[in-house]
Amino acid sequence: MYIFVNGKIVDSESPAIRVFDRGMVFGDGLYDVIKFQDGKFVFLEDHIERMKKSANFFGIKFPYTLDEICSIGHKLAVMNNLKEGELYLQLTRGVDVIRDHVFEDDYDPTFVEIVQPVRKMDPSIWTEGGKILTYPDLRHQFCEHKTTDLLPNVIAKKYVRSKGAYEALMFREENGRKYITEGASSSYIFFDGEKIIAPKIENILPGITRSKVLSVAREIGIVVVERRIWLDELPNMKEVILLSTLSRVLSIVKVDGMEFEKGEIAKALDKAFKDLVISTLVY
Ligand code: PDD
Repeated sequence: MYIFVNGKIVDSESPAIRVFDRGMVFGDGLYDVIKFQDGKFVFLEDHIERMKKSANFFGIKFPYTLDEICSIGHKLAVMNNLKEGELYLQLTRGVDVIRDHVFEDDYDPTFVEIVQPVRKMDPSIWTEGGKILTYPDLRHQFCEHKTTDLLPNVIAKKYVRSKGAYEALMFREENGRKYITEGASSSYIFFDGEKIIAPKIENILPGITRSKVLSVAREIGIVVVERRIWLDELPNMKEVILLSTLSRVLSIVKVDGMEFEKGEIAKALDKAFKDLVISTLVY
């Protein structure tokens, strides 16, 4: 497979990343994942905007423009013979040969671009709906950014998969009461029979799929409320819906032992979201 590393397209087997890269030794970096379909990148502008905002927040230099990232992505897709897939972007604070936590102000960031086939999913999840398990959110305070240090996410996902579930429904606790945050690599929204309730963005990722789905929901006349959702409210919900770049709009039919409808709201949102994707495929 061909990948892009710091200005060059190289074979993915070649030693392109240095061991002292700060992404490797400190997790001092950011990433993003963009869906690639019909030869185009879905919501590319939004993903780059989110990544740039985070780079700015952490003071990491952002070395390429949207157009450059897009044309590198197309080149990789052609070279790797892919019309569908996922574009992975990673940006780190570059190489630091003495492994010092304190970074120099003068450095060259590392920028990686990979176009690869979409990760495998069991297709029955689309027809039957997904099962998920609650799991404590053990992450840091920078979860509004797509940082590369994903250890708690990796552990959560591996745990739930080992129990036969698709994804984790993570929660944090305040004064002994648990509230819902997000998945290990996805967002959630809920339908209580009258309105959609989305966990407020408080130290969770502002998901691009989440924001697009909430806007199409409003457009088709569904009331949307963004607020903290307590785990003990879950039995009042009719539908649980998982959202992400790769899983898109996915009905969840079981959370721990609790069952939910594979309902009409998820179906309507899925259709409206797909239509939006098709009508906005420009890059
Ligand atoms: N994950 N929350 C977390 C923690 C995520 O990692 C992701 C995406 C999302 C959904 O965001 P978006 O709609 O912008 O994809 C929410 C990607 C797909 C990943 O890590 O592979």
